[in-house]
Amino acid sequence: MTADGDTKKRRAAQAALALVTDDSIIGIGTGSTVNLFIDALARLPHRPRCAVSSSEASSARLAAAGIEVRDLNEVGELGLYVDGADEATAARHLVKGGGGALTREKIVAAAARRFVCIVDDTKLVKTLGRFPLPIEVIPMARMLVVRALSARGGRPLWREGFVTDNGNHILDVHGLTIADPVALERELNQITGVVTVGLFAARPADVLIVGTAEGVETR
Ligand code: A5P
Repeated sequence: MTADGDTKKRRAAQAALALVTDDSIIGIGTGSTVNLFIDALARLPHRPRCAVSSSEASSARLAAAGIEVRDLNEVGELGLYVDGADEATAARHLVKGGGGALTREKIVAAAARRFVCIVDDTKLVKTLGRFPLPIEVIPMARMLVVRALSARGGRPLWREGFVTDNGNHILDVHGLTIADPVALERELNQITGVVTVGLFAARPADVLIVGTAEGVETR
């Protein structure tokens, strides 16, 4: 029998548990893989008491698991941040934001000494860009950013009806082949009206845990 997507995600989430120490405040990402991680965390006998969350959805799940959610401003640097991704390369460069939580995810990742990314093997790519690149924008600047992205050869589509936890909009940019993720992240960050680019390359994951049909691979 072949492992389904959830089994692979669960394997990656389970493997990340080994990196958790009970005395630390842990950073928590967003998405279905992270949900499995939170559920596994809740079952640990000595689970962390506190966490910093990257979204309202993860905060609610953490609270339901009995893990207190703390404000990042009160806790300073985090030892560990665990999050999923929509695409990942061997260099641990990521595309994130499929769930629209990219801004807080990038903030919590930046505050962490170690960023552990948990994915199933369908997320692995040679070159980023197959998954449309999410970009969070200030609502009044949406069309300004659309024009700037179109001029760069992308096809930005407004994720209509979706508002981020920060009250902003998301553009999903199709048609990009991202040969140099660090350079593109830097360039797109300069567009006026852009809040966050869903490329995590300047600050890539430190560890990539991949759930596969056979087990897990750590890179
Ligand atoms: C949330 O905004 C995203 O960055 C998620 O981390 C990403 O979409 C992965 O989600 P899944 O674990 O649900 O695939």
